[in-house]
Amino acid sequence: MTIAADLYPVLDTPQALIDLDVVDRNAAAMFALGRANGVDVRVHFKSLKCGGLARHLMAAGADKFLCAKLNEAEVLVGAGVRDVLVANQIVGPVKARRLAALAARADVSVCVDDAENVDELAAAARAAGVSLGVLVEVDVGQHRCGVDPGAPAVALARRVLGHAPALQFRGLQGYAGHIQMIPDAADRGQQCRAGLQLLVGTRRELEAAGIAVPVVTGAGTGTADTAAGFPGLTEIQPGSFAVMDAAYHAVCPEYGCALSVLTTVVSRRDGRYVLDAGSKAISRDFGTPVVKDRPADRVTAVNEEHTIVAPGDGEAVRVGDRREVLPAHCCATMNLHRSCAAVRGGRVEAVWPIEASGRYD
Ligand SMILES: Cc1ncc(COP(=O)(O)O)c(C=O)c1O
Repeated sequence: MTIAADLYPVLDTPQALIDLDVVDRNAAAMFALGRANGVDVRVHFKSLKCGGLARHLMAAGADKFLCAKLNEAEVLVGAGVRDVLVANQIVGPVKARRLAALAARADVSVCVDDAENVDELAAAARAAGVSLGVLVEVDVGQHRCGVDPGAPAVALARRVLGHAPALQFRGLQGYAGHIQMIPDAADRGQQCRAGLQLLVGTRRELEAAGIAVPVVTGAGTGTADTAAGFPGLTEIQPGSFAVMDAAYHAVCPEYGCALSVLTTVVSRRDGRYVLDAGSKAISRDFGTPVVKDRPADRVTAVNEEHTIVAPGDGEAVRVGDRREVLPAHCCATMNLHRSCAAVRGGRVEAVWPIEASGRYD
């Protein structure tokens, strides 16, 4: 829904808005998918970066989160999340110490794909007197981080087990980021299953070697439906589904766009109007942003501080009018704002800081 016009003057622009009714519908759909398939849903915080939003999702049933960066993990633990997976490689003594310190406050786990990094994390955990959960990351086709499936993963798991109790081997992660937004659902599903075969095959090799594998985690919003029912996967880890964006919504229309950026029309000429927010406030990573609820309006350019729109035929536009813009990438947009207004039924329920925005550590 579009927020009521009488709310607009209360907020200055550009302002990130989160429509809580849409978040709640998205969360209910994703958690129902998990329940129906007997699989855990771990929510990716890189898409949110906001402790208030994490707490809101916890109230809706989320009990485990993952994140890409240590600072996100710190925000999550500060928000009261008890089970946090840093789904990334944490390298270097400073970060290893920060990770170990966090493991004293919550159940924290991390991904590894390198034997020396395993040793480094073990030393930090030992020094801090904590036990750190560890998942071996498997490359299931994206060719980013991760060891090859099969024997290399078994060898690395053994290395982790050798550091018990400072490290606890939890299982496997395999994420195929390159397929999440394939427009054709059948093709996306088929490529998802091919990656999960590699992951679950690796699980079987570990078990054949006598190694228990409590967690096998993977998949994002675009593949959650396929992955949820895949035998041998214990967890799905979507993030974008909660707030969504115009580009992902075109691929997964079942999840609504809760995130928008409220803007003001600052200039108007025949055939165009100009908004007071550009690429510094609205991400165009995955395509062109969209003016919310105005399908006839077309964004023709996104400059740093301006978005230029061709209005639909006969549309009366005045300087000072407000427009909500749906970004083309929610995760990057949350990273651009310091706060978001949580809106329900045309009223602002809260203004939340986005604590992890603009941080890369
Ligand atoms: C490791 C990992 N898991 C899960 C996700 C969630 O993806 P999505 O935003 O498609 O839900 C991502 C996104 O980049 C990721 O990097």
